[in-house]
Amino acid sequence: MANISIIALLCFTICVSSSLNYSHGAAEEKMQYMVVGHVYCDTCRVEFETKLSEPISGAVVKLECKNRTDEAITFQSQEIVADNFGDYHIIVEGDYEESDCDVALVRSPRADCSDPTEAWRKSRVVLTTFDGLSGKLRFANNLGFKKDKALPQCTRILQEMGYYELSQESGELSHSSEL
Ligand SMILES: *[C@@H]1O[C@H](CO)[C@@H](O)[C@H](O)[C@H]1NC(C)=O
Ligand SMILES: *[C@@H]1O[C@H](CO)[C@@H](O)[C@H](O)[C@H]1NC(C)=O
Repeated sequence: MANISIIALLCFTICVSSSLNYSHGAAEEKMQYMVVGHVYCDTCRVEFETKLSEPISGAVVKLECKNRTDEAITFQSQEIVADNFGDYHIIVEGDYEESDCDVALVRSPRADCSDPTEAWRKSRVVLTTFDGLSGKLRFANNLGFKKDKALPQCTRILQEMGYYELSQESGELSHSSEL
C-alpha cells in the first residue's frame, strides 16, 4: 500500500513540475544581453584613447555574431547610433556560445574624423553565460575613428603618456626638433 502512494506522489510531482514548464532550455532562450560601448575620435591618430580623444555623437556601429565553425551569421543588430556622449547600447536576445560576436564601426557623422582605425578594428563581446561570465551587461572595448590630422597638442600629451616613440614610428606626427 505504501508503495502505491509513493508512486502516486512521485507521478504527481513529475506531472506538476513538467506542466510548470520551467525547463532550463526555455530560460536560456530568453536570455537577454545589453552590450554597451563608446565611440571616440582618435584626435592624435595613435589608435588608442588619450585625454584629447573626443566622443562621437551620432557614430554608427553594428553588432554581428558568426558561428565559429562555419562563419554563418547567427545574429545581426540593426545599425545603432551613439548618443551625445558617444555611448551606445545594443540589446541582444539569446545565447551565442558557439559564435564570435563583434561590435564594428559602420560610419562617423564627422567629416574630419571618419577614418575607421584599421579594418580589423572591432570589439569582441562574449554573449554567453556558459564560460562563467554572468549578468546581462556586457562591455565592448571603446572604438575609435581617426581624425584626418592630429591635433597640435598631441605631441605634448603623448610625451606625457610616454608614447612618443611609438607614435613617431607610425609616422603620424610631425617630427619635433625639441626631442
Ligand atoms: C513551454 O516552453 C516552450 C519552450 O520555451 C514554449 O514554446 C511553450 O509555449 C511553453 N508552454 C507553456 C504551457 O508555457
Ligand atoms: C555552427 O556550425 C556548425 C557546423 O556547421 C553546426 O553544427 C552548429 O549547429 C552551428 N551552431 C549554431 C549555433 O548555429
